[in-house]
Amino acid sequence: MYTDLVMDHFSNPRNVGEIEDADGVGQIGNPVCGDVMRISIDVEDDRIADVKFKTFGCGAAVATSSMVTEMVKGKTLAEAAEISNKAVAEALGGLPPNKMHCSNLAADALHLAIQDYLTRAGREAEVPLILAALPKGHEHSSP
Ligand code: FES
Repeated sequence: MYTDLVMDHFSNPRNVGEIEDADGVGQIGNPVCGDVMRISIDVEDDRIADVKFKTFGCGAAVATSSMVTEMVKGKTLAEAAEISNKAVAEALGGLPPNKMHCSNLAADALHLAIQDYLTRAGREAEVPLILAALPKGHEHSSP
């Protein structure tokens, strides 16, 4: 049912935890099941220098969180902003159809963390430039 890559990231999730005094934090709940994902980032020279996640959710949510942290480390904010939920699921070799909704958190939480960073840095004007599509409706970023 799950690809080897999904099982690998679920069994050995990368970058678990929370960055102390992070530069940006994004948290989002999945409206389908109520699971919650939180991503914290450190930014240096407009690149994601460090990223960690905490996911209170199912195995597929843990695997997509783990994968997105690996995908964005070292990327510029603009590059990270372009990563979609679909791209994360594809990087894992796909998810079973009834678990696709579980991939709806990872990139969204990341994008909210980037938004939080830009806002804290007084660069709010850049949010719509860097993040063309913020998750709508059920988002909240936390301080
Ligand atoms: S069942 Fe909630 S994220 Fe997978």
